[in-house]
Amino acid sequence: MSVTPPPIYSPPKQEANLKADLTELKDALSQAAQAPAKPEIGKKHFNVENPAPVNVFNYTGAVFDDDEEEYEHADLLPSFPEISFPPLGEIPFTDRGHFANPEKANLYAEVATQGGSVKHHTPVLGVEFQGVSLKDLSEKALDDLALLIAEKGVVVFRKQDNLSIEEQLRVGAYWGPLHLHPSTGVPRRAGLEHVHVVYADKGARPDPTAFSKIELFHSDVTFEAQPPGPTLLRNLVTPDVGGDTIFSSGAAVYASLSPYFQKYLESLSAVHSGYEQAKGARGAGQHVRREPIETVHPVVRVHPVTGIKSVFFNAGFARRIVGVPKAESDNVMRFLNEQFALNHDVTWRVKWNKDDVVIWDNRMVNHSALFDFWPERRHAVRVTPHAERPESVAAYEARTGQKAKDWAEERYKALGIQKPTLDGGVGRKERGFKD
Ligand SMILES: [Fe+2]
Repeated sequence: MSVTPPPIYSPPKQEANLKADLTELKDALSQAAQAPAKPEIGKKHFNVENPAPVNVFNYTGAVFDDDEEEYEHADLLPSFPEISFPPLGEIPFTDRGHFANPEKANLYAEVATQGGSVKHHTPVLGVEFQGVSLKDLSEKALDDLALLIAEKGVVVFRKQDNLSIEEQLRVGAYWGPLHLHPSTGVPRRAGLEHVHVVYADKGARPDPTAFSKIELFHSDVTFEAQPPGPTLLRNLVTPDVGGDTIFSSGAAVYASLSPYFQKYLESLSAVHSGYEQAKGARGAGQHVRREPIETVHPVVRVHPVTGIKSVFFNAGFARRIVGVPKAESDNVMRFLNEQFALNHDVTWRVKWNKDDVVIWDNRMVNHSALFDFWPERRHAVRVTPHAERPESVAAYEARTGQKAKDWAEERYKALGIQKPTLDGGVGRKERGFKD
C-alpha cells in the first residue's frame, strides 16, 4: 500500500491551523491507520538464527520487547507503516528568532508570571527552566525562546507533564515546517507521522558490534537539504540511572581553532548521506518511506539570526570532504569528530527526568545519546522543524553585508577583553600540564 500524505507539516502559527492540518493528515493516512496494530518490529535484529541485519545507526529505536499490554504510552510506541513520502522540495522557512526581543524580555516576563526559574549553565551551552509550562508560553515568548536556543544551543524544560504530543507538535511547527523522517519509527497512533520515536527496553540488548558513542555524535538528518533547527525531544519514560544526552557545540569547536584552520574549513563542503541509514532500516526489515538522498553542505555554517559561525560536521552522516584527497578528507573528518566527541570543554551533558523536554538547535550542536541503561526502558518522542539550507560564511556575508562572528570573540567582547591571539609561537613558553 502506498499513501502519499502532504510533504510537510506547516501550521506555523495558530492552533486552529494545526488542528486542520492534523485532520487533513489523518484523512490522508486513514488507510495507513488500518495497518496492523502490532507492526513488524525489530526483535529480528538479535535473532541468532538470522544475524545478518545490521542497523547502521542504532538510534532508530526499532528494537523493543512487545510483551506489555498495559503500557501507558502504548499509542506512542514505534511503528513502521508502509506509507511513502515524495522527495522534499524547497521548504519556505523564516527563523522566528528574527522576531525576538534581544533581551528575551517576553520570555523572562512569562517565566516570572508562571513562578518559574531559569538557570544558565556553561557560557556556550545550556539553559534550564524549572516550573515553566512550555505549552503556555505565548508566541512572543516562543520567538524569544528561538533566539535563546540559537545562542545557548540547548535548553531544558523540566517536568512538562501537561504537554500533550499535539502541543509538542504545535510548538515545533511554530518554529518551522515539521520534518517527516524517511525511515525511523513513528507512533502507532495514526496522524502522528511527524513524530520520531526513540525507544529501548530490555529487548534492546547491547549490540557488541555497534558504533561507539564517539562515532555517533551527530546532528539529526543532516542529509536533508534543509536540516532541522530547534528540535524538541520529550522523555516519556527514563531509566533511573543513565540515558543521558551529551551535547557538543559547533560554535565552540570553530572558536577553538586557529584562524588559519578556520579559514581552511570555511572553504570546504562535505557530503552528507542518508543512504546508510536507509540501508540499515532495510537491513532490519523496515520499510523506507522516502528514498535516501545525499546533500553537500558547507563545513562551516552561519546561524541566520545570531550570525555566529559553527562547524557543521557530524560523523553520523558526513561521508567525505568534497574536492580534496581522500587521506586529507579522512583526517579532517577524524579531527573534527574528535573535537566534538572528546573535547569536553565544548560539551554539556543533560541528565533526564521523566517528562523533561530538551530543545536543541540542530544547526549549532551535535549530540550523542548514551545507551548505558539496559535493561531499563527509555521512551522519547521528537518533533523536528526544518530550518534553512545551511549557509556558508561567504554566502552569508554576501547576502547580509555583515561579517559572520566567532562565538568566543563575541563573548570576550561582551566581557570587555580581547580574545587571546596566536603569536606564531615566538616568545611563547612550551605548554605543560599542571596536574
Ligand atoms: Fe539524534
